[in-house]
Amino acid sequence: MDNIIILDFGGQYCHLIARRIRELGIYSEILPYNVNFEKLKKKNPKAIILSGGPNSVYAEDSPLLQKDFFEFTTKNNIYILGICYGHHLIVHLFGGKIELRDKKEYGKVSLHIIEPTKLFEGLEKNETVWMSHGDQVVRLPEGFNILAKTENCPIAAYCNFDKKIYGVQFHPEVAHTPNGNIILKNFALKIAQCKKEWRLKDWINRSIELIRKQIGPNNRVILGLSGGVDSSVTAVLLHKAIGNRLHSIFVNNGVLRKNEEIDVQKIFKTKLKFKNFHYIDAEDLFLGRLKEIEDPEEKRKIIGHTFIEIFEKKTIELEKDYPNIKYLAQGTIYPDRVETAVTGKTTAKIKSHHNLTLPDDMKLEIIEPLKDLYKDEVRKIGLELGLPTDLINRHPFPGPGLAVRIIGPINKERLDILKEADQILLEEIKKAGMYDNLWQAFCVFLPLKTVGIMGDYRTYDYICSIRIVESLDAMTANFAKLDWELLEKIGTRIVNEVKGINRVVYDISNKPPSTIEYE
Ligand code: XMP
Repeated sequence: MDNIIILDFGGQYCHLIARRIRELGIYSEILPYNVNFEKLKKKNPKAIILSGGPNSVYAEDSPLLQKDFFEFTTKNNIYILGICYGHHLIVHLFGGKIELRDKKEYGKVSLHIIEPTKLFEGLEKNETVWMSHGDQVVRLPEGFNILAKTENCPIAAYCNFDKKIYGVQFHPEVAHTPNGNIILKNFALKIAQCKKEWRLKDWINRSIELIRKQIGPNNRVILGLSGGVDSSVTAVLLHKAIGNRLHSIFVNNGVLRKNEEIDVQKIFKTKLKFKNFHYIDAEDLFLGRLKEIEDPEEKRKIIGHTFIEIFEKKTIELEKDYPNIKYLAQGTIYPDRVETAVTGKTTAKIKSHHNLTLPDDMKLEIIEPLKDLYKDEVRKIGLELGLPTDLINRHPFPGPGLAVRIIGPINKERLDILKEADQILLEEIKKAGMYDNLWQAFCVFLPLKTVGIMGDYRTYDYICSIRIVESLDAMTANFAKLDWELLEKIGTRIVNEVKGINRVVYDISNKPPSTIEYE
């Protein structure tokens, strides 16, 4: 299958480049910049993209390419595109000159196309592109031509037709370069002539093969299944690869949404026929430990530690029957790795409970089949694997669950009230066709009593706050400006149907300064 290899020079957008190429229907893989020729040859790439990176080509220890790299690519008809650091490196290795600018060029700039080549086909003479660099090319080596410039960067793109090399100073892969996709498409389809042969199904089959190979014919894997998208997709993928040698552990921590423990069991045990699905009802243990705890961080810690304790106990119990449990699977996806900079192989991060590790003496190797994918790719794979749309399109739900949506101490009464209210909210939002457009919609229990009137009776009950936000990545969020009538309907239903609530308020705070969750 035609493919494009991305060589990683440490740039933060390396994965984005691979994703953009995959979006074009071409298989793409990231390899370290110093991968050996043998391995590269085996991949048989039509093109190689040299990624950006934080280094300067002149710095000591800066990552370079192997000797004879370009002899190899020219001989094998491999097209090259250098981006940012990759763009400098090519020039540097061919004897051109790079210089440090006084000021870093950062942000959107206007690119003026001097030479209309295939790379820029379909673009205007002037295009907005996104830059982030300190160094820049000041002299091109022989055989290279300038293709484009910006006000402060006279050599913003170049090519060497004979050697099949292109370079761009800016980042075509980021959304801030609005027509960056056209450039990547031109490079992949028109220049390197890749055929669009890659489909998600191929990723799934490849990944199943790799999992089988890694785990071997006898070893077993355990997985903490939360019912969220990432761990669910990981579970189904592993189940397809190794069947009942996957042991999924689902812990009911008592702070799940209404009926969640039943729904998750239905999907995995009944629908998907997971044989080794271990359901652990630890509601009493969790609620016992959380009793009277007010401090949010303490709640989080208790839930995290209790989860690990239960998970560890179950693993030890399973290991007695199955000494060949050798792997711990995790639903880590690419953005998680960026946020938490997870690198270690031996320490297991339990993602849904942030930064908690299993004891070292458990010696389970980590397997993370989704680690190079973005959330929307994971969702598509989940659908392809037959997971229900409802589960796939679910809003994010925090590891500490409803515990961080009940202000102050948690008890069964408060949990039941919150679960009921939350279910009504979700029902109405879904009915109105809004669910998929929102980042999150949920209820929060406020332990404040106010006076109300129901029929002829005075009531003295709690307040429910409705939090509905729109967001792209949860880093920032805006409260959703929902239709008043819809909000009124939700509020009325909650007050009428949930015993214990007589007032509903709508949260109109954005993030920042307010966070999405309340605790
Ligand atoms: P905040 O409240 O920080 O939340 O604005 C940002 C996003 O992260 C989710 N969240 C969590 N997810 N474990 C998780 O897996 C947690 O402890 C946790 N706390 C917050 C939150 O729902 C929102 O989408």
